[in-house]
Amino acid sequence: MEKQVKRIGVLTSGGDAPGMNAALRAVVRSAMSRGIDCVGIRRGWNGLISSDFVRMDTTSVSHIIDKGGTLLYTARSDEFREIAGQDRALATCRLLGLDAIVAIGGDGTFRGALALSRRAAERGYQLQVAGIPATIDNDIGCSHYTIGFDTACNTAIECIDKLRDTMQSHERCSVVEVMGRHAGYLALYVGISVGATAVLIPERELNFERDVVEKIRRARLAGTTHYMVVVAEGAGNTMEISRQIHEEIGIDPRVTVLGHIQRGGAPSARDRETASRMGYMAVEAIANHTGNCVVATQEGRMVVLEMEEALAMTKQFDMDRYDILEALTNNYCGR
Ligand code: F6P
Repeated sequence: MEKQVKRIGVLTSGGDAPGMNAALRAVVRSAMSRGIDCVGIRRGWNGLISSDFVRMDTTSVSHIIDKGGTLLYTARSDEFREIAGQDRALATCRLLGLDAIVAIGGDGTFRGALALSRRAAERGYQLQVAGIPATIDNDIGCSHYTIGFDTACNTAIECIDKLRDTMQSHERCSVVEVMGRHAGYLALYVGISVGATAVLIPERELNFERDVVEKIRRARLAGTTHYMVVVAEGAGNTMEISRQIHEEIGIDPRVTVLGHIQRGGAPSARDRETASRMGYMAVEAIANHTGNCVVATQEGRMVVLEMEEALAMTKQFDMDRYDILEALTNNYCGR
């Protein structure tokens, strides 16, 4: 017989993403509406190790749905990767009487959650864990969408639109680096949306002549006198790409690294709404004793997946979108 869920912990871990606060709010309010107590764990897994927590209630998550960042702070914890760290985290769970943890973050966060739950089981302590995917990289295998991606795309687009104004005025080439870690989703979506001259992503082997030089030449032949090259951070060194453009075509590009600005700002409607539904579903899954799980989106639907299976899933990179990008950039029409 499953014991009734009385108290859950919630934390954000890994790189922050716009919409994490909306997910946190949804977890706390959904739990409270079911009479489940909620404890916020601060600074990711480090907070569980060091007993850094805060009682949460309806008012503690008021007016945060529109805020970027995370109210609970976040961190990447090396200590939690070790058994000793997990045991210390487990001691906090016992002390606070936590029946479950909702972990908001990337797949590294979920791996940590699963390890903790397994360690707890070995020690005869029942601890359910639920993951909510949140990262601007959109690189979690089990979920088509991750909270924060849409806002980060919009931020990058806004910045690049501004860059375009000055590049156009000076008839220059811009090489812009966007985040994404080892994935090219952000670069691809942003590249399509700004009408980039060329987009470089790690999922496609770079052929400099075909992917950069020829695209700039074709744009020039079509009458364009400014060029926007969007580079995913995992696809290559922007300074080196700029140098190579200069060497091969003789133009003198300006490099912009958008960096952490892409992680901030008010979450978009899509991120707020997705985060709210995911937070609600995570609490429902815990209350219904679904077991360790990840709330994910697949084919436009929200689903609850068994955590170990979810972690084994890989995402097929969206080459159809890349083909669309190719069709729109590989011709003589410029933008
Ligand atoms: O995972 C989110 C992300 O912003 C990546 O796009 C980027 O590679 C990384 O985090 C940067 O990490 P940090 O904030 O530790 O510099």
